[in-house]
Amino acid sequence: MSADPTADERAAVDELLGPPESSWDGAVERTAFDHRVARGGADARDDRHLLLPALHALQARVGWISPGGMNYVCERLTVPPAEAYGVATFYAMFSTVERSPTVLHICDDIACRLHEADALVDDVETRLGDERRQQVLRSPCLGLCDVAPAGLLQTAGEGGDSQIPRVSLDALLPFIDGGPWTIHDHEEGSTPQPADERRLLRRVGVADPSSIDDYRAHGGYEALRLALEHGPDWTLREIIDSKLMGRGGAAFPTGVKWKAVAEQPVHPHYFVCNADESEPGTFKDRVVMEQDPYAVIESLTIAGITTGCEQGYLYIRGEYPLATERLQHAIEEARRHGLLGDDVMGHGVRFDIELRRGAGAYICGEETALFNSLEGKRGEPRNKPPFPVQRGLFGKPTGINNVETLINVLEILRIGGQAYAETGTEGSTGPRLFCLSGDVERPGVYEHDHGVTLREVIDAAGGVRNARGLKAILLGGAAGGFVGPDQLDIALTFEDARAGGYTLGSGVVMLFDENADLTDACLRIAQFFRDESCGQCVPCRVGTVRQEEALHRLVQGRTLGSHDDELVLLEDVAQVMRDASICGLGQTAANAVQSAIASLGVFGGDASDAANADDVPSPTEEQES
Ligand SMILES: Cc1cc2nc3c(=O)[nH]c(=O)nc-3n(C[C@H](O)[C@H](O)[C@H](O)COP(=O)(O)O)c2cc1C
Ligand code: SF4
Ligand code: FES
Repeated sequence: MSADPTADERAAVDELLGPPESSWDGAVERTAFDHRVARGGADARDDRHLLLPALHALQARVGWISPGGMNYVCERLTVPPAEAYGVATFYAMFSTVERSPTVLHICDDIACRLHEADALVDDVETRLGDERRQQVLRSPCLGLCDVAPAGLLQTAGEGGDSQIPRVSLDALLPFIDGGPWTIHDHEEGSTPQPADERRLLRRVGVADPSSIDDYRAHGGYEALRLALEHGPDWTLREIIDSKLMGRGGAAFPTGVKWKAVAEQPVHPHYFVCNADESEPGTFKDRVVMEQDPYAVIESLTIAGITTGCEQGYLYIRGEYPLATERLQHAIEEARRHGLLGDDVMGHGVRFDIELRRGAGAYICGEETALFNSLEGKRGEPRNKPPFPVQRGLFGKPTGINNVETLINVLEILRIGGQAYAETGTEGSTGPRLFCLSGDVERPGVYEHDHGVTLREVIDAAGGVRNARGLKAILLGGAAGGFVGPDQLDIALTFEDARAGGYTLGSGVVMLFDENADLTDACLRIAQFFRDESCGQCVPCRVGTVRQEEALHRLVQGRTLGSHDDELVLLEDVAQVMRDASICGLGQTAANAVQSAIASLGVFGGDASDAANADDVPSPTEEQES
């Protein structure tokens, strides 16, 4: 489409990319030289990875990505407009249609629904009326389940984005009235657990997250000093000895992954911190990043220098403005203090970190989708093999770890790999972060050694809200599964989970009290997977739609055939998605629904099936590394 950028749009893009060098990459004036020589093509193509930041720049400046703005970005980066359009429309935070510069996202996902979010959105929509209704958007989990119901205000221009905890109609009145509205800094991430019970979270609420000096005063940068003094082989040995397993969902041994990257003959190597955290019910990484940002930067630095990387990337979900700001500040401070850059801590080692924001796509947490997103493409997963350690980001050997996995590295180097391995259990060493939300008395992130029972985790958070009865627990996230109150004594370890057909997933422990509507929760989960499927492979693209349709038919009593026929259909769809989907999204999209039917009798399923753990689908572990 032929359309020109406005001056504002040009300025937003130029601030990121620098001014154009010639009319070939977007300059308004065509010089005599430009008439004879085309310049910058190869360089611009190398900058394709800046497509997402450039689209962010437009969205943040004018509140949408106009055809003129998009054309200018395409000219600057030599990306075909159709491709850029495909990328822009992939991400929920970008709008390719003009809209208000102020948009309020209210989460109506599972934890927030337990805090009346659904009714709240209806109410706000009604009060805004037809003309302003588009200013409020329903959102999947915003990673603020501990302060549900949650919101996110996206404001173009100076305002920026702000997280809103405990959204209420009263708090929204200025917005509804259309007057000026100031959101006070969202309250700090919650860790209700006493400080002396925490190892990974020892600095949360204790050290000032904006001060590198305070971080150091609380033991910060000791682990990096040890890693540099002893060298990569020593660090690798400690990580292998610790038997640390990844906390991002696939439970892959971290030491094995690091070793595989370090040994790759092809260079450069990259290391990525996966901070996309979009699994409904999950907010542990957010709390760590907001409250202890230097720990993430230090541990990513150790991962990078141990695996022979000079460049690291931190990919954070777009809906985390406070964590983004604090991490960016921490990176700059670390650079200023010689803890990142060409000569890390004076040891002659080079390592630097770039922070990149996602833009609202759950699938971008899948490691290869994340690489595509970083490269400026649609966040669609790649086939594996080749595995990331062989060919990852930009086709080079890449290590990738979850935020929680990485901060365990600091603890391992602090106490030694073998001492770390003696905590937790034989097969699941070390501590684990749990995200308590829903109908729980004291929501927040809690830290326990592996082997703790579900009952102990819930008790530590004060039990069920208002001392009500417990109906169910969603364990591991939307890709995890429901368990009933009769399963409170299960041990939370990888090995017990595997044997028992449940999952720890991303550490979600969401409580549903005796009054909760599990049918509603299942419908919302099914909608989530239907929305978030990238659509690349048929079993998931079609299966997630069919699953949601069948659930709606069951709820409405308008079944195709008998009620049991629908349950059989759901089981068939689940099986196909599990067996034939390319990535973990499709492979786990039916877990929660199937477990609710089998373990809890939701939708009229036979809850006696729960006695047979084999019938409860276990999460498909992704193929890793
Ligand atoms: C749909 C989907 C979403 C995912 N989201 C995340 C995420 O937000 N954060 C994360 O660390 N891992 C996520 N993963 C797992 C990653 O693919 C990868 O296994 C992980 O980052 C590896 O880190 P780890 O070894 O430290 O666990 C996701 C996987 C799938 C299939
Ligand atoms: S399983 Fe779903 S999310 Fe994964 S690649 Fe296929 S369509 Fe995309
Ligand atoms: S923030 Fe609403 S469910 Fe997580």
